[in-house]
Amino acid sequence: MLDTVKNYPYLEYKSNKLHIYNKMVDSILEKNKTPIFVYLEERFRSNALELEKDLKKNLPNLFISYAIKANFLGRILHNAKQLGLGIEVMSLFELKLAHEAGISNKDIIFNGPAKTKEELEYAINNEIEYLNIDSMNELVLIEKIAKMKGIVQPITIRIHPLLDEKTEKKMLIKKNSKLGIDYSRGIKLFEYAKKSVNLNPVGVHTHIGTNLTSHEFYEELLVFLNKYIEDLEKKQGIVIKTLNLGGGLASKSTLDESGFQITKLGKQISSLIDNIEDKMIILEPGRYLIEDSFIAITKVLRTKKSWGRKWAFTDIGANTLIPMRYTHYKVIPERYKGKGQYTNVGGPLCLPVDVLTDESVDFEIDEEDLLVVLNCGAYTISMSEQFGYPRPAVFALNQEKKMELIKPADDIEKMVKESFWGNT
Ligand SMILES: Cc1ncc(COP(=O)(O)O)c(C=O)c1O
Repeated sequence: MLDTVKNYPYLEYKSNKLHIYNKMVDSILEKNKTPIFVYLEERFRSNALELEKDLKKNLPNLFISYAIKANFLGRILHNAKQLGLGIEVMSLFELKLAHEAGISNKDIIFNGPAKTKEELEYAINNEIEYLNIDSMNELVLIEKIAKMKGIVQPITIRIHPLLDEKTEKKMLIKKNSKLGIDYSRGIKLFEYAKKSVNLNPVGVHTHIGTNLTSHEFYEELLVFLNKYIEDLEKKQGIVIKTLNLGGGLASKSTLDESGFQITKLGKQISSLIDNIEDKMIILEPGRYLIEDSFIAITKVLRTKKSWGRKWAFTDIGANTLIPMRYTHYKVIPERYKGKGQYTNVGGPLCLPVDVLTDESVDFEIDEEDLLVVLNCGAYTISMSEQFGYPRPAVFALNQEKKMELIKPADDIEKMVKESFWGNT
């Protein structure tokens, strides 16, 4: 147990009972029914503050923008604003969420491969600071809108870098993916924008991975980007003011476990990018900030043995804990009762992919036990579905270590009515 919790400073076993920020699990659960999600506000704050502090040692011109798609709950967006973070959005819905949280337009980055004309007009009318272009057709459309308004629109262009084949293979977003534009075509977009009287190309953007834990990857990427920027500046006479490295960092606890150091990343950026003092370095972390800032508390509904294997089924499942390649759910007991038979933990859904962890756990588990699932914050609630089950309530464990409901659970009766909406 101790091994699992050592990279989570907010967790501790005292007399075999799990404490979260010094609170026992049943005092967090109070009278609420499982399953629930708990947003650890303090962890989100410390993740953001430490990231900024460690990067700023080497990068005085830094802008950190939370990727809202990782988890769009309003409470998180309010916290992001309090912490002075920007917000990265991919749609009008997310843009409006950012506005609702009081994020100012100068702190918003708008990404996405197929922004509608209405979205672009809205963004341009609101003077969104960073409009990130993904194709030539989008560039032409923005030029048209800017011309009609009689303005010069600053833009940044998302490119897919040229990397070693082995590195490329490991990336989530590959060369032939729908996102970004190949680096050589990217040059054409920059040239086009440079010639236009209504466009001003000011920055390079790239985002190709998630759950990254490798300094070698960043070294390779930064060497490529430095050369790319040098070509744009020297050959095309384009002044690059912003370099956006996208999101992609693994969570704070995963990075701590892997030995990756944020201070070293800052050093890599400042030493590999020329004239760093003239450039704003932008990061768009989602997973890094939010993944380990959420836990779930769940109850074991059933246990069984089959094919020599023990299973424990919890009351939370894959409709919210989405089984994606990059998730790191870890299951630990509320009360450690000693070593037990190796057990696989799955959710209640009648689906084979509804398993919470790839590895089995080795502590004793019985029906009715409470379990805590770690690393539940990224791409769970924002991608969740009413797939067979209602989505659980979300509470914030606030700065005073008090529980506040921030999103009620779905109501089954309402779900049934919605399904039959429009039927007579
Ligand atoms: C453009 C862009 N920036 C940032 C992110 C956040 O990525 P991560 O959660 O891996 O940090 C994403 C995620 O898909 C993205 O598409």
